[in-house]
Amino acid sequence: MAFAVYRLARLGAILANFGGIIRISRIRRNTIYFEISIRLIRRTPVKHLLTNMPHTKLFIPGPVEVSAKTFAAFCKPMIGHRSNDFKKLYAEIHPKLQTLFGTQQPVFISTSSAWGVMEGSIRNLVAKKVLNCMCGAFSDKWLDVSLRCGKQAEGLQAEWGQPILPEALDAKLATGEFDTVTLIHNETSTGVMSPLKELCAVVQKYPGVLLIVDSVSSFSAVPIPMDELGIDVLLTGSQKALALPPGMALFSVSERAFARAATIKDRGYYFDFIEFRKNQADSMTPSTPVISHIYALQSKLEDIFCEGVEARHARHAKLNAMVHAWVVRNGFEFFAPEGYRSVSLTCVKNNKEIDVAAMNAKLKEKYNAVIDGGYGKLKGKTFRISNMGDETEETIGALLGWLDDCMK
Ligand SMILES: Cc1ncc(COP(=O)(O)O)c(C=O)c1O
Repeated sequence: MAFAVYRLARLGAILANFGGIIRISRIRRNTIYFEISIRLIRRTPVKHLLTNMPHTKLFIPGPVEVSAKTFAAFCKPMIGHRSNDFKKLYAEIHPKLQTLFGTQQPVFISTSSAWGVMEGSIRNLVAKKVLNCMCGAFSDKWLDVSLRCGKQAEGLQAEWGQPILPEALDAKLATGEFDTVTLIHNETSTGVMSPLKELCAVVQKYPGVLLIVDSVSSFSAVPIPMDELGIDVLLTGSQKALALPPGMALFSVSERAFARAATIKDRGYYFDFIEFRKNQADSMTPSTPVISHIYALQSKLEDIFCEGVEARHARHAKLNAMVHAWVVRNGFEFFAPEGYRSVSLTCVKNNKEIDVAAMNAKLKEKYNAVIDGGYGKLKGKTFRISNMGDETEETIGALLGWLDDCMK
């Protein structure tokens, strides 16, 4: 009898999955009559729900469009962050992260946006004085953050729209005042990509100086071989070229930087590099990580390695060239000088003085897409078009056509 009840309950559960029910219809003498009904309802898989959800497509330089596959990975059931399932997940993605970072060092997952790690790097590494290379909104802000952390700090300021140049960096470091340098590889606010290889070579001349590189809007769009370049901290965020939702940062730390951190007393806890290292050795994070994001990252890494890392870089270059051709074709100028232009976004100088806000409003209304109307003090004077993430020749081609229409 008990077995029969169990089997019925199982059948009920299975039917419920299909929108069906099983119920007792009548009991007569020793016989129980059941009624089974199945309502055929069409269940839309999560993936399709997300693809079809009406939304404005973002061509801004982060956050960018997130694919349905990524969102579906987000919806995986929870696992405990101290469980073997989590350790397996982190251990599985870790070698892929090392490949992308171009490092043999551990790669860490931070449940924060990039600023958490940017501030954490200052707190972990600056003993004497930090030189903050500044050429736009984010790099300028890093000086302010260094000072707020109570560190000795000074800016190496380039005009917005110009890159950080090796000679200027060399001159500053030659003073012997600094033990740490911060550099934003791709200044998202101005679309300037500073010459990373040359700047790294300058820092290499000064053995006591550690180099922190923000690759927030260039990571996975261009190669950044951390170990080869001698970078001490390489960090990125999730919502730019990785095309994940915002809220997670990734970073790696050199042995030299760990050695420095070990000598610094007020590292705090949440962003303590030594804590990260200890936990990563056992495929864990110091505090509860954003597990859904990590599933999404796993899915994204699958995409990246399926496409091929070099092919991904080439795709970003090609799409960027399409945007550049559109800029020239339409008589606009670039905000960044030739040779220092970002490959993941284009900052267009509004030399034709078009009404950027009106164009963007039309783009949103007619095509359900938006670009960026210029960052901070550059609003209206520039506008930015992103080609980061999963974009293709088809999607960027479509956007450029829509922009043509919206400028009329
Ligand atoms: C180059 C760069 N660095 C740092 C940041 C800060 O990132 P978050 O606000 O995600 O912490 C951004 C944000 O756009 C950025 O573009």
